Amino acid sequence: MAIRKIVYDGDELLRKKSKPVKDFDDDLDQLLDDMKETMHANDGMGLAAVQVGVLRRVVIVEANGMFVELINPEIVSQEGEDIDTEGCLSVPNFNSKVRRPYKVTVKAFDRYGYPFEITGEKYFARCVCHEVDHLDGILYVDKCENKEKYLKGKRK
Ligand code: NI
Repeated sequence: MAIRKIVYDGDELLRKKSKPVKDFDDDLDQLLDDMKETMHANDGMGLAAVQVGVLRRVVIVEANGMFVELINPEIVSQEGEDIDTEGCLSVPNFNSKVRRPYKVTVKAFDRYGYPFEITGEKYFARCVCHEVDHLDGILYVDKCENKEKYLKGKRK
């Protein structure tokens, strides 16, 4: 396992759409293991592969006492609404409130290529939405309440 370098806001890579995983192989195992180590080293609750420079639809989430690896994730249902503070390892020194669904169900594949579905609430739901957005080149600052403050900070 190895800690990989985080890609920071301002790098165009974060705005690209990640491609689906086709091969559930040793490279994927390595990527997932490294992502977990990188997330823990940075005290994160979630990480998308693009944040370590790999444009593949792979995310990990650790919230509500659950750790999951989601390959080619798709949010299949969402319910309710929750507004809470969010941050992102790729956007250091900034936090803002974001409106998210309270509960989501996501379907995905595990690292061995088996499909599964998982439902979670509050932070888990928030984290899944945040990470799945990364796969489509969306950052939480695009939809946060303090977008003006974020843009001002960028101009400095
Ligand atoms: Ni993020």
